[in-house]
Amino acid sequence: MDGRELVRSMKVFGAVQGLRAVRSAWRRRRTDAWGLPPLGAERARVPGLAVEAKPAPGGGTVRFARSTLRICVSSGGTVFWGWDGAGPLPSYALAGEAPDADPRAFLEPDTDGGWRIVSERVTVTVSRHGAVELRTPGGVMLRRDLPPRWWEPVTGPGEDTAAGDGGGTVAGDGEGARADAGAGAVAGNGAGAVVPGSARWVQRSEVPADARFFGLGGRAAGPRLRDGSYRLWNTDPKGGFGPGDDPLYLTMPVQFVVSDAGTHLAFHDNSWDGRVTLAEGEEGAGSGHDRPGTSEVRMTGGPLRCWVVVGTPARVLHGWAALTGAPALPPSWALGPQHARWGFGSAREVRRVVAGYRERGLPLSAVHLDIDHYDGHRVFTVDRERFPDLPGLAEELREQGVRLVSIVDPAVKAEPGDPLYDGGSAADAFVKDARGQEIRGVVWPGECAYPDFTDPAVRKWWGGLYEERLRQGFAGVWHDMNEPVSFVPFGDPTLPRSARHALEGRGGDHREAHNVYALTMAEAGYEGLRRLRPDERPFLFSRSGWAGMQRYGGTWSGDVATGWPGLRASLSLVLGLGLCGVPYSGPDVGGFDGSPSPELFLRWYQLGAWLPLFRTHAAIDAGRREPWEFGPEVLEHARAALAERERLRPYFTTLARLARMTGAPYVRPVWWGAPEDRVLRDCEDAFLLGDALLVAPVLTSGADRRAVRLPRGRWYDTATGRAYEGPGQVLLDAPLSRVPVLARAGAVLPVRGEGGEPELEVWAPAPGRTGGGLVVRDTGDGWEPAAIERYQSRLVDGRVVVERVTDDGVEEPGLPVRVRGL
Ligand code: NOJ
Repeated sequence: MDGRELVRSMKVFGAVQGLRAVRSAWRRRRTDAWGLPPLGAERARVPGLAVEAKPAPGGGTVRFARSTLRICVSSGGTVFWGWDGAGPLPSYALAGEAPDADPRAFLEPDTDGGWRIVSERVTVTVSRHGAVELRTPGGVMLRRDLPPRWWEPVTGPGEDTAAGDGGGTVAGDGEGARADAGAGAVAGNGAGAVVPGSARWVQRSEVPADARFFGLGGRAAGPRLRDGSYRLWNTDPKGGFGPGDDPLYLTMPVQFVVSDAGTHLAFHDNSWDGRVTLAEGEEGAGSGHDRPGTSEVRMTGGPLRCWVVVGTPARVLHGWAALTGAPALPPSWALGPQHARWGFGSAREVRRVVAGYRERGLPLSAVHLDIDHYDGHRVFTVDRERFPDLPGLAEELREQGVRLVSIVDPAVKAEPGDPLYDGGSAADAFVKDARGQEIRGVVWPGECAYPDFTDPAVRKWWGGLYEERLRQGFAGVWHDMNEPVSFVPFGDPTLPRSARHALEGRGGDHREAHNVYALTMAEAGYEGLRRLRPDERPFLFSRSGWAGMQRYGGTWSGDVATGWPGLRASLSLVLGLGLCGVPYSGPDVGGFDGSPSPELFLRWYQLGAWLPLFRTHAAIDAGRREPWEFGPEVLEHARAALAERERLRPYFTTLARLARMTGAPYVRPVWWGAPEDRVLRDCEDAFLLGDALLVAPVLTSGADRRAVRLPRGRWYDTATGRAYEGPGQVLLDAPLSRVPVLARAGAVLPVRGEGGEPELEVWAPAPGRTGGGLVVRDTGDGWEPAAIERYQSRLVDGRVVVERVTDDGVEEPGLPVRVRGL
């Protein structure tokens, strides 16, 4: 929170809140002044020359003069390497144990004094200086991680012992440069009095000259991450954000790299504050030589270890989901249209808005209640004056097919006598400073304490509290303010870096725990809901998070600024997060603040209708967001978008299941099936929805046509049925009534027929080609498994034939078929 949010908070809560925030900022500064180890002399270190290698299944260990490297290739082709003895565990990202080592792959001597590991999908070489290089089986370079460099605090005068053999530029960036006194272990074997603990480090990597970078969590300026520096520190960007704001709420050290040579995902498993500096390469840059693309990861502490998953985009995300967990499957209703508002203010207003949808015949799946339904903004309470009978309201809405979703903030009002606070104190749940004093921050209810979700016992306690939400009739939860936020007029709007955390019993401080705070809160909420209501899949989405959060739920844009740049940022976030393994997300449709023009609102609505989380939301002081508030024309076009969303619900259900089964996001970049197509790699204003559809939203004002870049193959404009041949670019009509959507020739997708029953929509295959699609039926909101049905389509004498493929051959589809594009 900066001036803007502080002013909003003061407007809403008065000057006392402002004063509290000022006090809290000073307190935070003081706490860190004595709670963190002093900045002292540091000694630089690089691995030095290799001394020996010890092969083991999957790879082995290479000992260098001043470090050791452990490296392992798994049977699936995933590569792990860790320096200074770092292994895969403990890790907040991993879903379980590390994958099995490939029993056929071992370190073996390479030419020029290094080693190599040859496996089916990837060849890894380790140079005698400690560079790790990944190549395709055909020998083409995918990624080269240069020898790292560490800076370790020394008790005596600092001395640079580094040999400068490829560690990259090493100028300290001042940010969080204090060394850690807590977690981690450095096995440096050089002489000198190194302070035990973790060092800060930097590692440069090279990728092919044609490579493009994506990912790093939710970034507003993407999806293609251009040259620049991206911070890894989950941050409330202070009010409405746009493409220029970085970092945002949800960062991840996950790079998704696409090049002609292949696709790979590199994950530096380290939750500390850091920075990734990316520079795209250039082919034929200097005297005809390629300049490789570079990534420089600079961390302020924590282990230096990395996972690299190689393969096609689909294979990479499959491998990533295998490593960090399958995405939670949202309940069926969470794929429908949802409406949120900060400032409904009363049950009467909720009823009025829901009636507005009903009376106009607009579908609505869920309504989200924000902090204004709490009593004094305290989590797990209800303002009984404004919401006298919440369970009754929930039931009434439920009869109309509308679920209630509750916001859940982590901060607990620090007030002795408050049952939640007393309960938390009794459970020793709150984060403390190095002297054992409870850390206090300021959030909506005033002065607050923060549960330490990195403590398993605290997670259990917190998860149990959701029982109150279920009793109130809520069907799902929306985690907010969990970067975590503490309002401050200056400095970092979060907890002091020296705040102590359990970190699963290992102990450490906020520098390590900050980025996993929301992830562990999500675990607490998800597991709590599962225990409390075992028959239903939890619905949870969270503003902040980290690698692996998809195990517990999805996310949303946060406070995206109302404006055309915010609309573009909305798509960037969803695409980037999908490539980091988080498939369920969406923006605040219409933008969080202010009042969108009717045109902007409509274009946002038309984008949102094609994204997994389709939800309007806005700030307490923002204009209206109900689709009927923008005039009859917008209402009619919004109605059409809603109708199409509902018609496609069976397709969304299928995509949600496939995301869980395969890790593939619903929303994919247009290069998904053709990463070798360089022009597609740079296309940022359209996306694929599953395999079948290409959606080209309108992201600029005043447009009634737009250019659409097509992947190879035949594509039909779904509005006109006209066929276009890709690869290439076409100019399509985009009147206010709709955005261009194209269907892939041959695609078979499930839709809702006129009577509401599922049917198959089949787009005619191009002559001489076949097509197909997968269908997973809706099994409701429980845990019932669902089978994948496989269909194929082909042209026979100018007629489209659709068959279901089973283990025993082919059979009639068993669902009504509607052929299009003939
Ligand atoms: C910040 C969230 O991003 C926003 O969606 C919410 O309305 C406010 N907090 C108030 O709870």
